[in-house]
Amino acid sequence: MRKLEGCSLITFYILLVTGKLSAEFVYPNVFNDTKRDSVLFGQFPEDFMWGVASSAYQVEGAWNEGGRGESIWDSFTHNSDEIYRHDNGDIACDSYHNVDRDIRMLKEMGLTHYRLSISWSRLIPDGRSINKISIPGINYYNYLIDNLVEANIIPIVTLYNWDLPQALEKEGGWINNATLSAFLTYAVVCFQNFADRVPYWITFNEPYMFCVHGYGNGSLAPGTGDPGSGPYQCANNVIRAHALAYHTYDDHFRRRFNGKVGLNLNFDWYEPKNVLNISDVTAAETARQFLLGWFAHPIFLNGDYPDVMKTLIREQSLQQGYNISRLPEFTTEQKDRIIKTSDFFGISHYTTKLASVLMHPDDDIVTPSWSHDANLQESVNASWPKTNSLSNRVVPWGIRKALQWIKKEYNNPAILITGNGVDTSGAIDDQDRVNYIKAYTNEVLKAIEDDGVNVVGYTVWSLMDSFEWDFGYSLKYGLYRVDFSSDDRARTPRSSAQFYAQLVEENGFKSSACLITSSKKLTLLIITSIYLYHVLIDP
Ligand code: FCB
Repeated sequence: MRKLEGCSLITFYILLVTGKLSAEFVYPNVFNDTKRDSVLFGQFPEDFMWGVASSAYQVEGAWNEGGRGESIWDSFTHNSDEIYRHDNGDIACDSYHNVDRDIRMLKEMGLTHYRLSISWSRLIPDGRSINKISIPGINYYNYLIDNLVEANIIPIVTLYNWDLPQALEKEGGWINNATLSAFLTYAVVCFQNFADRVPYWITFNEPYMFCVHGYGNGSLAPGTGDPGSGPYQCANNVIRAHALAYHTYDDHFRRRFNGKVGLNLNFDWYEPKNVLNISDVTAAETARQFLLGWFAHPIFLNGDYPDVMKTLIREQSLQQGYNISRLPEFTTEQKDRIIKTSDFFGISHYTTKLASVLMHPDDDIVTPSWSHDANLQESVNASWPKTNSLSNRVVPWGIRKALQWIKKEYNNPAILITGNGVDTSGAIDDQDRVNYIKAYTNEVLKAIEDDGVNVVGYTVWSLMDSFEWDFGYSLKYGLYRVDFSSDDRARTPRSSAQFYAQLVEENGFKSSACLITSSKKLTLLIITSIYLYHVLIDP
């Protein structure tokens, strides 16, 4: 039941007088369908997890301190032309030297959780030699985790946020299945050292991103590979590595620490371009399966890829002259190991896109790729509000549809929203981010209250501005601004940090009726009492 606390009486009176709450919209000029877009007043479940997220390479800096080994992102930023202005994470937000300040920010916002990631090469410089574990690396994460616990903030730790040790990349990285055993070694080192204080583990962050863009089209590290096969070989190994880490936690750590292990999949919503056109409806569904089902179908359903992927990739591979499908097959034994290896369903969601079928001209010389296999033509609705970088549009109802879809497709799992946010111009008074977070979290509330989706937590991307991969420092996602020209990487709260703190404190949205002044409330109370007296008691 939605709670009607504090202001319930006055809200009740208004409901009686007007028959309904007057509709309030966050983006009134664009999204004003009363049934779909009105703000829902109410609260999140009592134990809802409220957090923010960051990741090691994006914030830590200190790239060659404390014995840290090189990662693919060090190598990529130092050598590639793919990165905006040749920015890099050498210093980033210097969080390696700013743990206390970072934790103060989390406290300032009253958060219950912080999602951070561990840098593999900071702990094991060459990625696999257990006798070369870096003590300063262990000390750094111990200090961070201890101080979070001390501040009553629960750590959610990602093992792999795209920063493979460069030494492993030299042997083929995620294309080489020898990387699985190295990942397991690393996971065990993390569980042994930190699982006593870390109750949530995310094995991989957004494998779609680093498999398609890292080993496919090359815009993310390591920037190598073959667009037709690289993404699928990478994903095959990552899914198996995830399952290995999950079973190892199960077998050796769960009894002692009782934590939860899952992974994080990026899931922007695909809406059919024309909902009345059956081929657009199919294109959108195919896109969802290629994006999310690729990983979620094996892990949450049956150990295997979605049928539509198997069929389309096989058909196209054969047409392109391959002898077998470019999508690898799992053995029966592997499938059995992969099924049901996640204690929660982590998703990140930033925007919505329109899907339609990609039309290939007859003389098209096909370069096999994920998007060609998915037959996907993406577009946006021109009326949807733009974000600062223009790459993502603001479409709040998309997250609700995404959540509803996951509930139906994967039998109502516990969903943790591990990343949601927007890039802005960087201004301190960032009303655009306030509106975005307000609208998106309100849609999450509707999903919980009205659709019965089991969302257990929400983290904003991001705690502060940080190194945004191929966009360098040009994207500003932070609730806190970081001054990258100052030596101490000074942090300043934006308006959105204040708004988020209030949302977390109130654990939801109070009715606007609660925001009116007491004298007005009194007047309203008197008027409605007189009205009720005449209607009900002395008609
Ligand atoms: C996600 C990444 C995260 C951040 C946001 C903006 O895809 O996982 O690190 O860069 O995008």
